[in-house]
Amino acid sequence: MPSQVAVNDLVRKIKSKQARVCVVGLGYVGVPLSVASAEAGFNVAGVDTDRDKVGKLNAGLCYVEDAYSEKLLPSLVSADKIHAFSSLKQGAEQADVIIICVPTPLDKKGGPDLSYVKSVGRGLAGCLSGYKLVILESTSYPGTTQEVLQPLLEHGGKRAGRDFALVYSPERIDYGNPRHSVKDINKVVGGIDEASTKVGTQFYKSILSAPVTSVSSPAVAEAAKILENIFRYVNIALVNELSILHEALGVDFIEAIDAAATKPFGFMPHYPGPGIGGHCIPKDPFYLVYKAKQTGLPLRLVSAAEEVNKLMPVHVVSRLLSALKVSGKKPEGSTVALWGLAYKGEVRDTRRSPALEVIRSLEKRKVRVVVYDPYVPKVSVDGKTYPSASSPESAVKGADCVLITTNHNAFRKARLKLVRRMMNRRPILFDTKNMLKRVDCENAGLTYLSVGRP
Ligand SMILES: NC(=O)c1ccc[n+]([C@@H]2O[C@H](COP(=O)([O-])OP(=O)(O)OC[C@H]3O[C@@H](n4cnc5c(N)ncnc54)[C@H](O)[C@@H]3O)[C@@H](O)[C@H]2O)c1
Repeated sequence: MPSQVAVNDLVRKIKSKQARVCVVGLGYVGVPLSVASAEAGFNVAGVDTDRDKVGKLNAGLCYVEDAYSEKLLPSLVSADKIHAFSSLKQGAEQADVIIICVPTPLDKKGGPDLSYVKSVGRGLAGCLSGYKLVILESTSYPGTTQEVLQPLLEHGGKRAGRDFALVYSPERIDYGNPRHSVKDINKVVGGIDEASTKVGTQFYKSILSAPVTSVSSPAVAEAAKILENIFRYVNIALVNELSILHEALGVDFIEAIDAAATKPFGFMPHYPGPGIGGHCIPKDPFYLVYKAKQTGLPLRLVSAAEEVNKLMPVHVVSRLLSALKVSGKKPEGSTVALWGLAYKGEVRDTRRSPALEVIRSLEKRKVRVVVYDPYVPKVSVDGKTYPSASSPESAVKGADCVLITTNHNAFRKARLKLVRRMMNRRPILFDTKNMLKRVDCENAGLTYLSVGRP
């Protein structure tokens, strides 16, 4: 049990914004959190092993695609509310609240790689004098906070609960989404004891405008995060698989999804596409898959979803090649103008982007690929560099097919008649993100294809 005086003192410091906050890991999650903490009035010490990020942040440069941080970070840095360090000790020793948001990727075998979390845990063991609040925000399987992080933090002789508060609070940020900044996304907090949950909840209440929900343990909060992302992963797989079926049945499945979404309860629309990309949805489910295997209860639904989701780039390429054949064209000698390299709209992040898988697969069939992405200047696939064309129109010159693989808003405004004029005879437009209308494409003289539509 912690001393009540220590708990009350930390709560008072948080309420009065005198608590010093340390954010470990200044990436897509850590930067907005640092900004939200500083905007609320806290002094923030950011820590990152990447000296380039530390230098940029101290120069007031926002390197993450987050409208909220881009707007506020420069003035908060000039006001000395945020300062970045490359040494954990320098950032954490004086802090009252320490938030860990380092990467949790997959290892070579496809299982959890907790090496970053462990390294920070070891480093923090010597920085825990006084009653501090330690928060883990990195996504991981249920049990990580108490089974993996807590023993490392206790290495310096301090005991979680008695000497410091420890909570897990999952991050739900959807960077690049201007409608939901970190401040207005509801937060879940699970502490290892009552006092931890109390100070953790108080901290988030003081930096967010959204409600904060406390749960009974870190494991419940960890499970909630993975549930959210498995829900997305499995539901996307469901509509992907049903899309392939309805294409064959000759039924417009996108229209069916929109029709189903008119039901006011019990249904949430998900849309098909060329595959799943990014840093979270394709990897988070496999943290639980690992835990499930350890428990002897394999997650069959996740495995089935993985199979379907991985099939999507293959399906797209096979449909495209069939359409070329119908147009009397062979793969070799044909050119595809691929619009969209990022894994989602309005960002420049190409991590695990399905577009890269599609490029790889087209190259194998000897199709020439030209790319355009308004946010991504170039990509490398299997050692070959693809520079982005300067505009959607310049990418399609002499192309046989335009293939839309990312839902960037700019593609909605494509000048389809001009596009058609620049392309070869019998041109195809394959819209895997269902952004354009069939009628507009056909009126422009393009053969229209999409995922989920016949
Ligand atoms: N990106 C998202 O949209 C998102 C959303 C919700 C949850 N998450 C989760 O949050 C965590 C962080 O994700 P991210 O997208 O911010 O990752 P990121 O790669 O953008 O940032 C992580 C940062 O941590 C730094 N780092 C690595 N080891 C460090 C160490 N020992 N000490 C200090 N800094 C270190 C890296 O240099 C990097 O700058 C992950 O677990 C991720 O799954 C991410």
